[in-house]
Amino acid sequence: MIESLEKIKNEALQSIDEVTDENSLNNVKSKYMGKKSVFSEIMSKMGSLSNEERKEVGSKSNEVRASITEALDNKLKSIKDEELNKKLEGDKIDITLPSKKIRKGTRHPLTIVREEIEDLFISMGYDVVSGPEVETDNYCFEMLNLPKGHPARDAQDSFYITDEMLLRTHTSPVQIRSMLANEEKKPFKLICPGKTYRRDDDDATHSHQFSQVEGLVVGENISLSDLKGTLELFAKKMFGEDRKIRFRSSFFPFTEPSYEVDVSCFKCNEKGCNICKGTGWIEILGCGMVHPNVLENCGFDHTKYQGFAFGVGIERVASLKYGVTNMRDYFTNDYRFLRNFDRKEI
Ligand code: DAH
Repeated sequence: MIESLEKIKNEALQSIDEVTDENSLNNVKSKYMGKKSVFSEIMSKMGSLSNEERKEVGSKSNEVRASITEALDNKLKSIKDEELNKKLEGDKIDITLPSKKIRKGTRHPLTIVREEIEDLFISMGYDVVSGPEVETDNYCFEMLNLPKGHPARDAQDSFYITDEMLLRTHTSPVQIRSMLANEEKKPFKLICPGKTYRRDDDDATHSHQFSQVEGLVVGENISLSDLKGTLELFAKKMFGEDRKIRFRSSFFPFTEPSYEVDVSCFKCNEKGCNICKGTGWIEILGCGMVHPNVLENCGFDHTKYQGFAFGVGIERVASLKYGVTNMRDYFTNDYRFLRNFDRKEI
């Protein structure tokens, strides 16, 4: 019996040594230690032994049970450890790897220019106002001294929605809205940035949707020199301190006199280059003194008040500032284009 016990122990220890997973270990355990195991078979025969033998076999069987149990426990622990290590190995994170760059959006170049213009005029005490993009013919043209059939309407090919409603072709109707809303007919200074629409075919220099900033100042003793000083400051702020401006006579129905304003070329300093098409000057906006008819249409006494107004294209300013040659780039949302401006990526 002692020998059988010794044999059982050796076999059991060897089987335990050989198994590599928990299931097989459980099988080994029930084979040697379970109720129907060889071990319990021997134990059941204890009753037939003499006192002397029973003592001996008893202590041997205790020893065998202890060593098999210990081997089973150790093996179970090492299988669990192995499993855990494998899992950790699979989930391993290399914390020294550089992290993925999070791309932040950038401000659109037209937004940058619009906000720059807004900041400048706010610093001079102007209000920033807005008006609807769907406008009445009355505000967009009629009240601005542009009656139906006026040839100047042809220059502003419009998207009409009904006979009386259209997408505004310029931001100038906000002049009318602001003056009408000014119930006390008090002096004021404002700019209105916003989207405008014309029935142009889209190409490198045209877009059916574009944006303008309208400026309007109404008060007593407002003169052309106020307009000149204001626009000179604007040109210097947008294109550099050394810039000069010049006024060329022009025509707009809502201003009298009317001018187109050129800024001295910031690339060649008036020598002539590809940007200014050899002239040394670049046209940037239209302006003038508010036509008395427009003031009167809006309830302002033109013998007491004068005003100046101007309208500038935001795409035009942005293209000059940043050297953008294809207008479509502003509207196609290509990140390779957009990320060139306002870089604040981290
Ligand atoms: N509204 C004109 C346009 O879109 C621009 C303009 C010219 C606005 C002269 C003005 C102005 O306020 O005085 O072409």
